[in-house]
Amino acid sequence: GHAIIGGHEAVPHSRPYMVLLLMNRPGGRIGQCAGFLLSEDFVMTAAHCQAESYKVFLGLHNYHDQNGVQHVNVPGRNAFPMKGYNPVDCRNDMMLLKLSTKAELNDKVKPIALADRDDGSLPKACVISGWGSTENSKYMSVKLLELNVTLTDNELCANTNMYCSEGERGPGQGDAGGPLVCEDGKAYGVISASTMNPDGSKIQSYKKIPDHSIKEHKGKLHSPTTDTVTIIPVSKEHHICVRDAD
Ligand SMILES: *[C@@H]1O[C@H](CO)[C@@H](O)[C@H](O)[C@H]1NC(C)=O
Repeated sequence: GHAIIGGHEAVPHSRPYMVLLLMNRPGGRIGQCAGFLLSEDFVMTAAHCQAESYKVFLGLHNYHDQNGVQHVNVPGRNAFPMKGYNPVDCRNDMMLLKLSTKAELNDKVKPIALADRDDGSLPKACVISGWGSTENSKYMSVKLLELNVTLTDNELCANTNMYCSEGERGPGQGDAGGPLVCEDGKAYGVISASTMNPDGSKIQSYKKIPDHSIKEHKGKLHSPTTDTVTIIPVSKEHHICVRDAD
């Protein structure tokens, strides 16, 4: 895989909602995903990033400079995948993590709002960001990278309630769970998966946030109690949702 492939370094702390997740997986393996802060209690990420436990980094830009970065350890029982998550086709690939200690909000650590508009049109001026692999390396990017993406209509996405972008540029390994941020600066999607077309071209998909099933949960997503979030069992191994790096 490539990384935020074809991206460039973000202005440090210009995306204060961005969260790096390191996941403890079975067998002592460490995985990497991204996420985004919704409130001082909750981080949104992808459901296929589910793990035994998580280390959450808030206020991070450069991994080698942890000055001022908040670290929160989150046990697996604080992870709440969206009801209807399907690990085979990545449908509903979205999950909330409840932070075990509240985030301290400041200039470098701020929540992002979820999009609520769903008039059927594609949002414009979208940006993705993350510390995933790049076109130059399969390892994580030390600094936060970002990339403008153009959403496209296609059958795969219409059928699975996703947003899609196409081409070589896009999320890399380890970028899953990060937000698709568009026009008004709200989160419209969650970086989910990458699919290869028969002709070898790539489709990147993002779990669509402003859909009806989420609207129903919207008030609950911002609630600080976990008992309003539906918990479903999910298998530990996923082969199709490939955007988390080991
Ligand atoms: C990304 O898009 C924004 C506007 O949406 C624009 O201002 C910026 O120049 C674009 N960046 C690149 C590298 O194309």
